[in-house]
Amino acid sequence: MKGVVLAGGTGSRLFPLTKVTNKHLMPIYDRPMIYYPIQTLVAAGIDEIMVVTGGRNSGDFLRLLGNGKDFGLKHLNYAYQDGEGGIADALSLAEHFADGDKICVVLGDNIIEKDIRSAADAFRKQERGAKILLKEVQDAERFGVAEMRGEKIVGIEEKPVRPKSNYAVTGIYMYDGTVFDKVNKLIPSDRNELEITDVNNFYIREGSMTYDFLDGWWTDAGTFESLLRAANLVAQTQHKQ
Ligand code: DAU
Repeated sequence: MKGVVLAGGTGSRLFPLTKVTNKHLMPIYDRPMIYYPIQTLVAAGIDEIMVVTGGRNSGDFLRLLGNGKDFGLKHLNYAYQDGEGGIADALSLAEHFADGDKICVVLGDNIIEKDIRSAADAFRKQERGAKILLKEVQDAERFGVAEMRGEKIVGIEEKPVRPKSNYAVTGIYMYDGTVFDKVNKLIPSDRNELEITDVNNFYIREGSMTYDFLDGWWTDAGTFESLLRAANLVAQTQHKQ
């Protein structure tokens, strides 16, 4: 399985912090944000990785990450997203890199405490379809939210006003090779983006979506509050170790 980190977009929710730099280059405690999703993939046994960047600071990613030596990698692949057409638009740039293989996609601002090794191993064995990782949260309306019927996931709503569960869909997605056919069928949402939630709903309707619950804490870092929370969680976890 290959890995894709999505680090495009403008990070407008963090203005003016992101006026002259890319959100994913900003610090989370002692490392730049982009280090964490790459580490998530490496810890899951994935060593072929593409980073999708965008905006005016994409050269800084190359300067920072180079060939991935800090992560024990020999090589890193890069793609550039023009504009901010949404998460699924950024993902579409990885089609050539994926070349029909399974991929594990991690959003560049998603930070986790533990690892996703067991979910990744389960997906390596899964014949077809996709797998998402859910996390119980108190502020589900900020995320994609799973609608459950018993043990079954029957749909995902993006940032619903009245969430149908407390299970947020984290920004870690595993897909088979058909994901790009699905991305190519998407139409832009009301916020004029190609939504990853629409891709996931394709798999749910097809009956090929599985899910796991994510172990340990999880946070995004795309707002002032979550940026601060992420740094505090990382610091606390490191001090405990
Ligand atoms: O964090 C998990 C949530 O991420 C999910 O629960 C939601 O279903 C999913 O839509 C997403 O929600 P956000 O609104 O928080 O996503 P955001 O626009 O902040 O983008 C998250 C990351 O995706 C960002 O750090 C970089 C990447 N991205 C985003 C956009 C819009 C791109 O690479 N290109 C883009 O055009």
